[in-house]
Amino acid sequence: MALQPLTVKELAQKILAGEEVFLLDIRKEEDYSDWAIQGRNVRSLNVPYKQLENGVEDVKEQLPEDKNIYVVCAKGISSQKAVTMLEEAGVQNITHLEGGMTAWSEHLEPMKIGDLSNGGELYQFIRIGKGCLSYMVIANGEAAVVDAVRMIDTYKQFASEKGVEIKYVLDTHLHADHISGGKTLADQTDAAYYFPPKDDEGLTFDYKKMEDGAEVTVGNAVNIDAFYSPGHTSGSTSFIVDQTYLMTGDILFVESIGRPDLAGKAEDWVDDLRETLYERYQNVEQDLIVLPAHFGKMEEINEDGTVHAKLKELYQKNDRLNVQDEQEFKHLVTDNLPPQPNSHEEIRKTNMGQKNPDEDERREMEVGPNRCAV
Ligand SMILES: [Fe+2]
Repeated sequence: MALQPLTVKELAQKILAGEEVFLLDIRKEEDYSDWAIQGRNVRSLNVPYKQLENGVEDVKEQLPEDKNIYVVCAKGISSQKAVTMLEEAGVQNITHLEGGMTAWSEHLEPMKIGDLSNGGELYQFIRIGKGCLSYMVIANGEAAVVDAVRMIDTYKQFASEKGVEIKYVLDTHLHADHISGGKTLADQTDAAYYFPPKDDEGLTFDYKKMEDGAEVTVGNAVNIDAFYSPGHTSGSTSFIVDQTYLMTGDILFVESIGRPDLAGKAEDWVDDLRETLYERYQNVEQDLIVLPAHFGKMEEINEDGTVHAKLKELYQKNDRLNVQDEQEFKHLVTDNLPPQPNSHEEIRKTNMGQKNPDEDERREMEVGPNRCAV
């Protein structure tokens, strides 16, 4: 019997659990090399659809016989035709990824990070296709969402499953690599929206100031303390949750550090970045568990499918935290910067509320991998 189509949720769960997965990606070569589905035990083969149309015999020989084959395309349409062609040629155990890369880019998978004071809980939402991480802090029937992405229904649904009300929505900085769902989520749930004031240039809506020393208390039980940590943007602010976790936004990742150039200000912000990473973060509790807003490589995902590491371990292992020479550090972050994310300027304007693109345009603006790290 033919296999059922694979959903992006099923694929995300397989990858996060470290299962072996075989993908046949039929997009154009350049699209595949720019951005493809990855994972610890993911193997993928790129054969563009046009090539398949010319005959499938060569491809057939490269496909495993003992594994399921999942065909991936941009939107989950041509992959269905490819499945039919390959089935007709005798390939078994083959099906397509529903919704293709578009759906993959939009899937969020909630993972529990740990328990908090007074029965609270902390969840990480992994947007595995794009490397974005967002968070929900739950305590006594209330929830706070940090760095929400555009797919806000996931948070609303998760909160209702948990029987909690979203009361607070916070952003660590003005995002440039993905569209923030923060303001919309706050509006739709009647939650208070918190934002770092030093990033508010051009912002078209009101917000509550999340500046150094400000604090939000979830369910009268769990504190989120703001800790000013500029360098990725001038307002970038970290959040210390329950005195245990350090939400670093895009300043510090597990295997890299944030880039300071997304507003074209690499030269101006590099000193701030250095000060945050080499001084400010040295002066907080080193046992804090770092929860970044992104991951760049699949290796940053732990065995259990979550992304986090103790601050002190990062000072040992992350080589970008160990560049003693200031000039060398400057070169490291301003030379050879990775290409700017697609549409980053449009994304910033959208996040400021200056632009209001429709859903399709938003989707299009976010196509591709995240490039927040150096
Ligand atoms: Fe960012």
